[in-house]
Amino acid sequence: MEIDEARSLARALQQLVREAHGLIDESRPVPELVARVTGHLSSALKDLVCVTQSFRNWEHASLQRGMDAYLAERGEPAWYGVSGHGREHNDTVDILTAANRGFERFDPGAVDYATTAIGSDETIEVVTFGLVETTAPDGAPIVVCLRGPAEMFGREGCRVEVIAATRASATAAREEIERQMRRHDVLRGQILTFGVSEHRGNSLVTFLPRPALGPEQVILPDGVLETIERHVAGIGRHAEALLARGQHLKRGLLLHGPPGTGKTHTVRYLMGRMPGVTTVVMAGSALRFISEAATMARRLQPAIVVVEDVDLVAHERRFSDEGSPLLFTLFDAMDGIGADADVTFVLTTNRADLLEDALANRPGRVDLAVEVPKPDAASRAALLRLYGAAGLAEADLEPLVARTEGMTASFFKELLRRAVLKSLEEDPAPEAPTAAHLTAALEEMLRAHESLTRTLLGARSADGPGVAYGPDGLLSE
Ligand SMILES: Nc1ncnc2c1ncn2[C@@H]1O[C@H](COP(=O)(O)OP(=O)(O)OP(=O)(O)O)[C@@H](O)[C@H]1O
Ligand SMILES: [Mg+2]
Repeated sequence: MEIDEARSLARALQQLVREAHGLIDESRPVPELVARVTGHLSSALKDLVCVTQSFRNWEHASLQRGMDAYLAERGEPAWYGVSGHGREHNDTVDILTAANRGFERFDPGAVDYATTAIGSDETIEVVTFGLVETTAPDGAPIVVCLRGPAEMFGREGCRVEVIAATRASATAAREEIERQMRRHDVLRGQILTFGVSEHRGNSLVTFLPRPALGPEQVILPDGVLETIERHVAGIGRHAEALLARGQHLKRGLLLHGPPGTGKTHTVRYLMGRMPGVTTVVMAGSALRFISEAATMARRLQPAIVVVEDVDLVAHERRFSDEGSPLLFTLFDAMDGIGADADVTFVLTTNRADLLEDALANRPGRVDLAVEVPKPDAASRAALLRLYGAAGLAEADLEPLVARTEGMTASFFKELLRRAVLKSLEEDPAPEAPTAAHLTAALEEMLRAHESLTRTLLGARSADGPGVAYGPDGLLSE
């Protein structure tokens, strides 16, 4: 056969196949899912535009809230789902196209829902896969698809897809949904902590209840709590007036002192005193999310970002995602928030010495450093009373105070627990531990074989040189 003949035969065959496809397509009814979407949009599938935006896992509830608010302004929403194999891996337009060509079978189905937290003890239902027919701000019909994280399929984050006949309609709807989402942000005013879930080691945000501590429950030297509170809450209270007078709002507080003296306790007190202030608590390995936390704080201000035990980070030679050691990532995050933001960074440490150099090299991050010291005699008496020895006579309290020099609040809490336990062992319904119970408990805790307990509770040993950190950062006597 001549080459030309072969070519024309091939062309003829190609033509035949094309026409055969056309015939089949015409004879096959439009799949229900495609008919539903294109029917609502009054537009052919090939002319549709899809605008997508993705958000982090922890924004799913806010996205749902934003979507709900958007729909509430536009009549009764009708959600529906999609059934069919592989929908998780495809964009909605791809699903529609595949269904239309008869490659895959996708049908309208049930909406997928999940439950997610919107507070320390409150949850809502969120759509993890669903479509809804509504209108764009310009009145044009649109179909919105909402998707949540699908860990099973390795997909992180949630997203919204807006399908419309024109890009202008889709974009305007997407922007309005995001505006509503920011307005109804469920993270605003909450106490949040970044953690690592057991699933695939991905990140998530947990809500914590707001502590309620009175100033009488925080035993610190006179004036310390007031100084801290003025710096953090006081500046916030006068934020507008300060800004109007050209003053910056961003602030950095460093609480330093031995373990168990009340740094975390003080932070908890501050949280309780500042209802409505978004607080993000970062500790341990979650610190690698510091950039996200800082962005969140800026968006949800007034806000506080607490970085616990920052010395652990100073030690850390490991590199963060951004490529610099974590401490510098932290400083960058602190710098990255504009001076006009009502955001406070609170750092706690029991190794201020380790941080001093780093902070001195990059000044301006911390504008108030407060020492939280071991309690003096007056504070020790106050701690004893606070934690259960309120009924004790002054004369009985004095020897206990004298013998507990160098002990921290954690030590007193444990002392009182043991005293109460002793009193319970004698009498199942005791009034309160007596001086004898307290003395017995104290002696037990001071005994040599309990020296590690004392160390762990932050106490100096009575006769030794006391507990110190060696140059390697390890505990040494
Ligand atoms: N100054 C204080 N007044 C009253 N209670 C305190 C005080 N300090 C500590 N406590 C009690 O002891 C517990 C432990 O203290 P906290 O966790 O605040 O210590 P810390 O200074 O943060 O120690 P670390 O350096 O180990 O983190 C607190 O939960 C609180 O109940
Ligand atoms: Mg602490």
